[in-house]
Amino acid sequence: MCGIVGYIGKSSAPSVLINGLRRLEYRGYDSAGLAILEDGSVVVSKSPGKVASLHDKAREEWPEERFGSAHVGIAHTRWATHGPPTEANAHPHLDQSGDVALVHNGIIENYRPLRSRLEAKGHHFYSDTDTEVLSHLIGDVYSGDLFQAVCDALSQVEGTFGIAAISSKEPGRIITARRGSPIVIGVGDGETIVASDASAIISHTRQVIYLEDNDIAVVTAEGVEIKDLNQVPVTRELAELGFDAEAAEKGGFEHFMLKEIHEQPDSLRNAIRGRLDFNLGSSVLSGMGTSARDLAEIQRVVLLGCGTSLHAGLVGEYAFEDLADIHAEVQQAAEFRYRNPLISRSDLVVAISQSGETADTLAAVREANQKGAFVMGLCNVVGSTIARETGRGVYLHAGPEISVASTKAFTCQVAVLLMMALKLGRGRRFSRDEGMRLAQEIDAIPQLVERTIEQNDRIAALAERYAASEHAFFIGRGYLFPVALEGALKLKEISYIHAEGYHAAELKHGPIALLEEGTPIIALANDIPGKDKTLGNVEECRARGARILGVVTEGDKEAAEFMDDVIEVPACHPLVSTIPSAVALQLFAYHVARIRACEIDQPRNLAKSVTVE
Ligand code: F6R
Repeated sequence: MCGIVGYIGKSSAPSVLINGLRRLEYRGYDSAGLAILEDGSVVVSKSPGKVASLHDKAREEWPEERFGSAHVGIAHTRWATHGPPTEANAHPHLDQSGDVALVHNGIIENYRPLRSRLEAKGHHFYSDTDTEVLSHLIGDVYSGDLFQAVCDALSQVEGTFGIAAISSKEPGRIITARRGSPIVIGVGDGETIVASDASAIISHTRQVIYLEDNDIAVVTAEGVEIKDLNQVPVTRELAELGFDAEAAEKGGFEHFMLKEIHEQPDSLRNAIRGRLDFNLGSSVLSGMGTSARDLAEIQRVVLLGCGTSLHAGLVGEYAFEDLADIHAEVQQAAEFRYRNPLISRSDLVVAISQSGETADTLAAVREANQKGAFVMGLCNVVGSTIARETGRGVYLHAGPEISVASTKAFTCQVAVLLMMALKLGRGRRFSRDEGMRLAQEIDAIPQLVERTIEQNDRIAALAERYAASEHAFFIGRGYLFPVALEGALKLKEISYIHAEGYHAAELKHGPIALLEEGTPIIALANDIPGKDKTLGNVEECRARGARILGVVTEGDKEAAEFMDDVIEVPACHPLVSTIPSAVALQLFAYHVARIRACEIDQPRNLAKSVTVE
């Protein structure tokens, strides 16, 4: 959430910073800005709107030479928390003297009293932001050493931060620090890049250092020196990024979302590869860090996540109960630490997060760790905070997900949860033969998804019939209930159609009052247990004039007859069917949004990786 880039080195700082912001724009795109050092001063350009507006504005305002001569700077693309997305609220923010510039992700919770105190000392603020307060605080305590000033200022703040700061008085360094908001530092050849995620770094270097909470670093063109906030030196290992720059490009697709939907057969292959043991009829998930004995002691699985990851958890809940006979429950991560979660040592807590940075999920992980549970992460981003703090888990290997709406991460999350359930199920109830059969079903997922994606053009044509709607309801039962929730989330977030997902039985307990002539119902009626009852609910909707788009199993003529329109998905294991069904709904949402000319990769008000509570 919000993107930070900082650059110091031999190249043009404005160009590197703007290119970096473009890569990070999916993290927030309300407004953007950059500050560079030139001839002993800080020069700033900011703009409401996207990075492209900032680029145009800087090109218009700044002389050409500045692009070549500036070699140090910081930049930011914003997802507004305090104050609307105006130019005044865009980062970087300056201190009172104008010598210090700061970009910040996170929230300074005690910014009001700090602001009053600084105002009483004569400071004048131009924005509504908590960040401007922090920049003034740094300036207020500055006495010739930016590192020291940042340490002193951060010791006074409550809340979360990932920051980068520069001073016109110390042109050879950037100071960066983190608590709760990620910071990665790319160490190149005579250049160093600071960023809130690695996609802004990968075109420069693959060698990175991840800061830990309460680390503060002095970044120069030659390298990095890290201390903790008490100024004790700490060592952080150099890691190698596991993807290349092309993975973060659109690769000929109109949108990242469409590219990522099409990538799913490959991302699923990567998620599954080497993790199924056909001989044992089980799965090999060494990252779980569990012995057979640990597994036998697990009494309950608690799945934590938000949004799409929460929906994957809901599929997992069914999988653990049905395949492994283990009590399982899903908890909304944001709620977890504010209730009294009853957790014991025999609980396996699985934190599901594509980014591995979601603040609500991270807070829940910390709470579960406190309670002594066996906590593991199910993350996509390697080296992310949740992956590191859980210390064990399973990576999705879905590759970078740039589109704000999650697609390939969801299907890989479900595939990994099925493999986990297989592993636990094999230890408890499955015979070897049963385990082998399920392993084969899981192994076939990439082909099932390929066949679903082959229907892209047909789904695009169907979408024309629904694109003018203002409301839509997604219904499903059993394993397909979470898919209904996920289908509705995808449609609402990228097309702005008001969409709700319901258990098919729940409609008649209230929501059916909303149906009018032509209201779309998207019914998940695959040929799995519960189908007949769902078809009964479809009839109830038809009787009230709804238009029904059914997701049905290939060749199921009986189910198709209940529908006005049909998307077919291949026949497969009922739990596995959640994956191709979700892919069909991703394509549907994508095409509806495209027809409505929506900003698909960057829907309004959203940001990827929500690092505030
Ligand atoms: C929806 C979407 C969000 C995320 C949620 C959690 O398409 O992407 O609902 O799923 O913000 O994010 P992660 O998985 O990164 O924790």
